[in-house]
Amino acid sequence: MESNHQQTQAAADWLQSVRWNSAENRLDLLDQRRLPDEIVYLELTTSEQVWDAIKQLAVRGAPAIGIAAAFGVYLGVHGASGSREQLLDAAIKQCDYLATSRPTAVNLFWALDRMKQRAEALASAGGEPEAMKRALLDEAKLIQSEDEATCRLIGEHALALFEDGMGVLTHCNAGGLATARYGTALAPMYLAQERGIHLKVYADETRPVLQGARLTAFELQQAGVDVTLICDNMAGAVMQKGWVQAVIVGTDRVAANGDVANKIGTYSVAVLAKAHGIPFYVACPMSTIDLNTPTGADIPIEERHEDEITQGFGKRTAPQGIKVYNPAFDVTPNEYVTAVITEKGVIRAPYGEQLKKLFEQG
Ligand code: MRU
Repeated sequence: MESNHQQTQAAADWLQSVRWNSAENRLDLLDQRRLPDEIVYLELTTSEQVWDAIKQLAVRGAPAIGIAAAFGVYLGVHGASGSREQLLDAAIKQCDYLATSRPTAVNLFWALDRMKQRAEALASAGGEPEAMKRALLDEAKLIQSEDEATCRLIGEHALALFEDGMGVLTHCNAGGLATARYGTALAPMYLAQERGIHLKVYADETRPVLQGARLTAFELQQAGVDVTLICDNMAGAVMQKGWVQAVIVGTDRVAANGDVANKIGTYSVAVLAKAHGIPFYVACPMSTIDLNTPTGADIPIEERHEDEITQGFGKRTAPQGIKVYNPAFDVTPNEYVTAVITEKGVIRAPYGEQLKKLFEQG
C-alpha cells in the first residue's frame, strides 16, 4: 500500500490506532490486520489509501474509521489548487467518496458530515483556500481528541454499573484500538484498572476476523487487565457456570428505537445473556446513535468476502466451491438491551423516547 514503519512492542506503551504525523503531513495508521504479531504503522498520504485502509480493516471500529476518514478528507484536498469554491467542491467530493468505504458504522457518515459542514461554513465565511485546508485538518484533530474525552466519560458511566470482582463478557473489539483511546465497551475496564477495581473479562474470539482474540485480548493483556479468551461458542457455557455478571459491547449504529447493530455474533450473546438473567449493556458515543434510522431492519449490514470464512488468515478450512454467507454485523432488538451507555449517561427502555430526549438535552 505504501511504506510502513515498525516499532518494537516495548515502545508501544499505548497503541494509538490513528496518529496524525504533523512533521510529515501524513496519517499513520496502526495496521490492525497484523496484530497481535506485528506492530506496524501504515504511512498514508492520499485519501485513496485511507479508503483502502478502512475497506480492508487496517483501521476498524466505528469511531476509529470516522476519525481516519476525517483525516482522509484533508489528505484528499491538501494538494488542491484553485478557488474557495473549487476547494469546497473537492472537499464535498472527498466526503462522498470516503463514505463509500464501509456501510454500517454511522460514525463514518457522522464524521464526514461534520467535515462537509465545516468546509461549507468556511467557504461561506469567505475563507481563503489555504486557511480552509488548515481548518479542515484542525477539525479532524478535534474529532479525534473529542472521541478520547467521550470514551473516558462512557467508561465512568459504565463503571458505575460494575462491582469489584465481577465477570464481564465482551464481543469483538470496542477498545482503544477501535476509538481514539480507551474504547467504549472496554473503557470501564481501563478505568477499573486505574482504580484497583478487579474485573474478570471474558473476550469472545469473534469469528471470522477474530477482533476479540487479536485485538481485545491483546490490548487488555498489554494493559494488565485480567482477560480470558474464549471461543464464541463458549459464551453460553461460561454464563451457565455463573462466571459472567454482565455483558458489555460496542455498536456500529443504534437505531431510533434502540435496536443495535454490532459485530456478527452479538445478537447470540444478547439472547444468551437474557436466558441467564445477565444484563446486556451497549456502550457508544452519541455519534453512534442514528435517529434517522427508524429500526434495526433499516441499518445497512455489510457483507464481506467469503475468504474470511473459508480461508481466514491464509489456511483453507472449507471445501472449494462451498456457498458462504458472511454478514459482518447483526442486529440485536432493543428488548435484549438492558441499557445504552453514552458520554451523557445511562439510558434504559423505552428507547424511542429516551434516545430522543438525549439529543434534546443538547
Ligand atoms: O468490522 P469491525 O471490526 O469494524 O467491527 C467493529 C465492531 O463491531 C465494534 O464493536 C463497533 O464498531 C464498536 S467500536 C467502539
